[in-house]
Amino acid sequence: MSNHSIATTMKNTGPIQENEIVLRTSDLTRRYGDRVAVNQLNLEIQRGEIVGFLGPNGAGKTTTIRMILGLIKPTAGRIALFGRDLASEPAHLLPRIGALVEMPALYLHLTGRDNLRAFGAVFGGVSQQRIDAVMARVGLQARQKDRVRTYSLGMKQRLGLAVALLNNPDLLILDEPANGLDPAGIVEMRELMHRLVNEGKTILFSSHLLAEVQQICTRVAVINAGKLVADKKIEELTRGQGEYVVQLEQARAALALIQQQSWGKKAYLDTTGKLITPSPQDSGRELSAFLFQAGFPPESLTPATQNLEQVFFSLINSNSQKGAE
Ligand SMILES: Nc1ncnc2c1ncn2[C@@H]1O[C@H](COP(=O)(O)OP(=O)(O)O)[C@@H](O)[C@H]1O
Ligand SMILES: [Mg+2]
Repeated sequence: MSNHSIATTMKNTGPIQENEIVLRTSDLTRRYGDRVAVNQLNLEIQRGEIVGFLGPNGAGKTTTIRMILGLIKPTAGRIALFGRDLASEPAHLLPRIGALVEMPALYLHLTGRDNLRAFGAVFGGVSQQRIDAVMARVGLQARQKDRVRTYSLGMKQRLGLAVALLNNPDLLILDEPANGLDPAGIVEMRELMHRLVNEGKTILFSSHLLAEVQQICTRVAVINAGKLVADKKIEELTRGQGEYVVQLEQARAALALIQQQSWGKKAYLDTTGKLITPSPQDSGRELSAFLFQAGFPPESLTPATQNLEQVFFSLINSNSQKGAE
């Protein structure tokens, strides 16, 4: 949060266009000695998106986020915020980002409200009404007069988010916002993020927990060993390779016939005896017609989808085998 302290609260970079690219990294790289923490990362986020930045521990998520927040400098590559170069105009651009990185540095001996007053005084131009609005937004009104020392971890996290929201930022960057929260806290944080996106904010948040990301974001960027290994909409990531899952009585006989077709060489039976097969002309209707005509009427026929968990681990594994450490 200290990145706000030097900057003004004026939004002097002009109005935001629809579909504007809020964040773009170009070949962003950060080395620590011989170790490449972030390796030529190209990432793009459009206004209104909620993007999950996913990867195992040590993948390079926090390093990337710290560069975007201007807390550390890239070794190579560039960062553009709202279409402008971060390195050239940090004082204009950084106040438009709200961030929650690691445990927020709150004053434990002060009340929640006095924390917001203190941070607001540093940022400048934060009214009492703004503090009221932000307290309501994160659901802490009832506890705002209590010392932060008495807050649960989830409440501290939400107060940290309130600080990040004081400037009414266009882009929120949250590093592992669910870390350390109990299941109820995780649900609260997720609902809060949903509401913020509905209000027009753009959110980039990192996580090493796939389930967390899958439930909330519109897109995931997967990073491993500093490299981007996937950047896709959730549906694209889980969509199958044009195969169908078919339940039918004589699956083995149907399989033998399908494997004789030019389009069916990759067909197989899964462990539960279901037929997994491509289809003629990539169409479920054609596959269904083929099976009927051949005397194998299917009981059910659905496009195959992949489990995101499997996709994630196969991305991480294939990437590691290509020579990372
Ligand atoms: N200040 C630092 N000095 C040396 N190495 C670092 C430093 N910060 C991070 N690293 C290394 O960079 C890599 C990426 O770390 P990090 O960005 O924290 O990953 P993540 O947030 O995805 O868990 C790791 O190998 C980590 O040990
Ligand atoms: Mg991290």
